Amino acid sequence: MSKARVLVTGAAGYIGSHTIVELVKAGYNVVGIDNFSNSKPSVLDGIAAILSERIPFVEGDCCDTATMEKLFRDYDDIAATIHFAAHKAVGESVREPVKYFRNNISSLLNVVQMSVAKGTSIVFSSSCTVYGEPDPENLPISETAPRKSAESPYGRTKQFCEDILEDSVKAYPNLKVTLLRYFNPIGAHPSALIGEMPGGVPENLVPYITQTAAGIRSELKIFGKDYPTPDGTCIRDYIYVCDLARAHVAAVDRMLKDKDAPRIDVFNLGTGRGLSVKELVDAFISVNKVALPFSYTDRRNGDIVQVWADPTKAEKILGWKADTPLDQILKSAWEWEKKVRNIQ
Ligand code: UFG
Repeated sequence: MSKARVLVTGAAGYIGSHTIVELVKAGYNVVGIDNFSNSKPSVLDGIAAILSERIPFVEGDCCDTATMEKLFRDYDDIAATIHFAAHKAVGESVREPVKYFRNNISSLLNVVQMSVAKGTSIVFSSSCTVYGEPDPENLPISETAPRKSAESPYGRTKQFCEDILEDSVKAYPNLKVTLLRYFNPIGAHPSALIGEMPGGVPENLVPYITQTAAGIRSELKIFGKDYPTPDGTCIRDYIYVCDLARAHVAAVDRMLKDKDAPRIDVFNLGTGRGLSVKELVDAFISVNKVALPFSYTDRRNGDIVQVWADPTKAEKILGWKADTPLDQILKSAWEWEKKVRNIQ
């Protein structure tokens, strides 16, 4: 039997690139699409170096219906789409909401339209941002926790997209969907051939840490030290990007192979472990034995105090667990930064 093909949108992005590697290792054929709006073509070289083969790839925009129609015509063996392609900068979404709604929603609508027409399944990249600030009694947070009003237009696009998929499953009997709500993905592939590559000044903590350790930024600013947490800094659930990538393979496996699976399901993808910003900084310094100048500054607008996942549903149903030790994850992030910056 020929291998099923998975379309990966946002193929050159951070999570997309790591997921392609895991899909191919698991025996899937893939085809990627990316418009390089927030990624570089060289990521495809990294993927090729890891896999010793180049993946089929289309440069294009998922918002362009004709491009998507051609892609599904050219690859008529697509069985599922993992839809990563989206704008993802929270701050930018506050300044340019229309850009976020237009891009993130139109691209999903095209993926749904093509999936319904071809009878194929969808895995959607959602986020723990849909939960907003959890009530402390709801921590760790499970999939049944209520979604709250989004903190940013970016977060609202994730909620809208989840709703669009839910309505679409009700309307189109051949459509199957898995919503994956990521916590905070960090780290890089152990080969250091692919990793996170933010353009400009990083918004996220770990790229800011690695760039500071590399001397590109003078010091890390920790946003807030007066939060109601044990050390006063915010708490998140940091999950290794390769563990996260494997969860996508498990979600595709289930949709394609388990006839009894519900037509739409949702999973939290986190470790179940909450770490404060200060704990993460300390761990990075001690694991990598590098200097990391940091100081405290004001809280960042829109930051929630604390969130970490209850990942038991994914373990029970997908047979998936994020089990890479933190030390290894933080080493991988530093190895990647050193490789990119040519640091010995
Ligand atoms: N932080 C700093 N200094 C920095 C950067 C971040 O102290 O320079 C802190 C933040 O205040 C926060 C923590 O580090 O407490 C994590 O911040 P990130 O920006 O790395 O991650 P967020 O939790 O803010 O955002 C992530 C994803 C978003 C998603 C959000 C949902 O990046 O896409 O989780 O909560 F919307």
